[in-house]
Amino acid sequence: VSDPVRIGLLGRGTVGDAFHELIAQRADAIGVAAGRRPEIAGVLRRSEGDFEAILDESEIVVELMGGTEPALEYVLLALRAGRHVVTANKQLIAQFGDQLFDAARMSGVQLRFEAAVAGVVPVIRVIQESLAAIEITKVFGIVNGTTNFILSEMASTGASYADCLRRAQELGYAEADPSDDVGGADAAAKMAILARLAFGTPVALGDVSYEGITEIQPDDIAYAKELGLSLKLLGVAERREGGISVRVFPCFLYAHHPLAPIEGPFNAVMVQAPTITEITMSGPGAGGVETAAAVLGDVVSILSGKAPVHVARGSLEIVRDISSSFYLHLEVADRPGVLAQVADVLGRNEVSVQSVVQRGMGDEARLVMVMHECPESRFFKALEEIATLEFLRGQPRAIRVIEEEFV
Ligand SMILES: NC(=O)c1ccc[n+]([C@@H]2O[C@H](COP(=O)([O-])OP(=O)(O)OC[C@H]3O[C@@H](n4cnc5c(N)ncnc54)[C@H](OP(=O)(O)O)[C@@H]3O)[C@@H](O)[C@H]2O)c1
Repeated sequence: VSDPVRIGLLGRGTVGDAFHELIAQRADAIGVAAGRRPEIAGVLRRSEGDFEAILDESEIVVELMGGTEPALEYVLLALRAGRHVVTANKQLIAQFGDQLFDAARMSGVQLRFEAAVAGVVPVIRVIQESLAAIEITKVFGIVNGTTNFILSEMASTGASYADCLRRAQELGYAEADPSDDVGGADAAAKMAILARLAFGTPVALGDVSYEGITEIQPDDIAYAKELGLSLKLLGVAERREGGISVRVFPCFLYAHHPLAPIEGPFNAVMVQAPTITEITMSGPGAGGVETAAAVLGDVVSILSGKAPVHVARGSLEIVRDISSSFYLHLEVADRPGVLAQVADVLGRNEVSVQSVVQRGMGDEARLVMVMHECPESRFFKALEEIATLEFLRGQPRAIRVIEEEFV
């Protein structure tokens, strides 16, 4: 029997503890399948362990502390000392990817991070390994389970954003401070990682424009249901004329869209390319045991020897003004001519309307429209003008709509 592979575990919180348990349960089976039995060489927590001593004892370092300090320092030291590293830390990879990949390359070791995006759904492995030979045109999906849970809950109960957030916190799907999730920053970090891998180009966090779900109103979801739409927080990384665009935004999907049925704290990622048409992967996006399973899967991949190929295609421009289709929700005075004036502003800005729902409510009315795709700058200019119309009774609300056709 060959020597065990010794693992230094940095962090033993939700994921670290589940990882520790999983090693205890699965070590023998992995030993048989991969040829070497994993064992924990040492654990570092705030209250326990010494990093240098753990590094000396380990062949693979598993970073499950979170945050960027001291995680970055420890991971760099480990890579430079010739240790393979597995991490679930999306901020670390999104912010310091260049530095970390360089350090791994220089030392000839592997840096794996499957759990950093979409939990146990194997999107990183599929993009880096299964699809390494093709030119990916678009990677997009639901990469934040907290917001997907909140939006699903709003749609099924009609409750407010604040009530659904509270429920997510009670169930452990949202943290006490949910701002990174609900504001879109968490999804943005994951999309930066996916874009980097899919397009072989460095993508900084600042290259990703993002919006969250905090402004979504229950009646947006209710009206959109009438139009056959469901609401998701989507991350989209795609090739565009002259470069790439990487964005996170709430948007409506038609019922036939493959991501429309993804409910609750689940994640789903689609990859498109002419060669493969499209692939959809979905599953649990978080959770201690699920994430630990992805981390241990990375350890097994390291034991099997082969590092993923890095396809670097050089720098690509970030394209910002792109075309989108929008849903527009207006609260207006209920009197003749209102629709015509709104239509006039849209028409002058070359924004064309695809469908309209109009509802009278006493002396107020709701006007809910879906536009055809047009350059976003053109739509926002029309929106600015609409906001000044004197019959408006509240701030206009605009949400993107994905019109794409699927096979
Ligand atoms: N939870 C999930 O479902 C999930 C899903 C996907 C990815 N992730 C990622 O997995 C990582 C770990 O998340 P988690 O939820 O397990 O976090 P957690 O429960 O907060 O655990 C963090 C662990 O790291 C230790 N630690 C933190 N700072 C340290 C420091 N300066 N020195 C030494 N030890 C330190 C903590 O020590 P103490 O025990 O002494 O406090 C704790 O054991 C994060 O990068 C997170 O983004 C988590």
